[in-house]
Amino acid sequence: MKVFSTALAAVLLVGSVSAFTTSTGKTAFRTSTFLNAERKTKAPVFDEVCETTGVTLKRFMGEVATLNPEITELTVLFGAIETACKAITNMVKRSQLPSSETLGYEGNVNIQGEDQKKLDVITNEVLKRALRFTGKLGVLASEEEDVPVGLTGEKELLIDEGEKYVAVFDPLDGSSNVDAGIPTGTIIGIYEYDEACKTDAEPADGVDAACLANTLQAGTNLVAAAYCLYSSSTFFVLTLGCGTYGFTLDENIGEFVLSHPNIQIPETGAIISFNEANTNNWDQPMIDVVTNWKRGTGASGNTFSSRYVGSMVGDVHRTLLYGGVFGYPGDKKNPSGKLRLLYEGAPMSFIMEQAGGLSTTGTQRVMEVEPDLVHERVPIVMGSKKDVQEVIDAYAAWKK
Ligand code: AHG
Ligand code: MN
Ligand code: MN
Repeated sequence: MKVFSTALAAVLLVGSVSAFTTSTGKTAFRTSTFLNAERKTKAPVFDEVCETTGVTLKRFMGEVATLNPEITELTVLFGAIETACKAITNMVKRSQLPSSETLGYEGNVNIQGEDQKKLDVITNEVLKRALRFTGKLGVLASEEEDVPVGLTGEKELLIDEGEKYVAVFDPLDGSSNVDAGIPTGTIIGIYEYDEACKTDAEPADGVDAACLANTLQAGTNLVAAAYCLYSSSTFFVLTLGCGTYGFTLDENIGEFVLSHPNIQIPETGAIISFNEANTNNWDQPMIDVVTNWKRGTGASGNTFSSRYVGSMVGDVHRTLLYGGVFGYPGDKKNPSGKLRLLYEGAPMSFIMEQAGGLSTTGTQRVMEVEPDLVHERVPIVMGSKKDVQEVIDAYAAWKK
């Protein structure tokens, strides 16, 4: 422990990549830095993961905070998100039991015209409550809330004196799958809160302008993003701007344990993941590239196969681990596709880029799209670097 603390102090002093060896001669800890905008976040790397009890999410976040005191407050938010994900895991699992009565529709339609599932509403409430009582959040926006919810109002004085953050989330992604017991997920993005946030946009009824403007930030401003995947296991995958890390819930001890350190997506893949029923309406570059992939005549020469869950979190998780391309491109009927920029596109793009992949609209990096609306949609193609680059090149060469 003494060696460990000394090494940490050394890392803090020199502020650069460092390594040291344990008494067993193995590298036990080192840090790496990654430049995200002007921020440099140092993340721990545990080479001895899976030995003994493993590295829990709590320990990981604790060591990130030690190395990066300026983001210590984030660990409180992550504690709340972790607990919410565990609670949602239980709800999704139990939903199949007749006694749970949580399957089916709530009877309401959200602002995007989608019928809300009972579990959309319940999981939204779970996340909202978990996050608001951290005292670290100024405002939150959710797929299931019409407008951003401010947490600094008189009735809800829930901010303490520390850093304030903005959370955007999709509480139950892929909820159309939930009644059939197919994987679903939760997506979360965290921005810094700017009290002086100004906007020209007309705020909707019941939402103040600063509140709205705080949620309308491009993905490049994200300080953290995470998703939970409720599947054969529950996974918690996060980035703090220094690589992408995956944890698996060990239900015996009730902890997320680091199982996928520093995920790196393969540079090329052989899996496409799109709703191919929309193919005929896609832009020509998209049709051409995907046709080539299916024939094995694309740049990599791989003959692609198809996998599509219809839950973005599930499809992106597989893409991160196996490589290939996931997307929901624009089409003639819906030029901006289906996925929402703030709480689906931007956070998942941050995670994808931090794993070495790319994410594009076809003509622009998704992370750089400036939102005008909370529920704005964005065309998305993300995945293996070389494969996504092929899409970008095809769009660049396209003469409409
Ligand atoms: P949500 O359930 O949060 O509304 O999101 C569903 C999204 C996304 O998870 C998935 O990739 C996509 O919708 C599937 O759309 P299609 O059913 O049109 O394929
Ligand atoms: Mn979704
Ligand atoms: Mn959803």
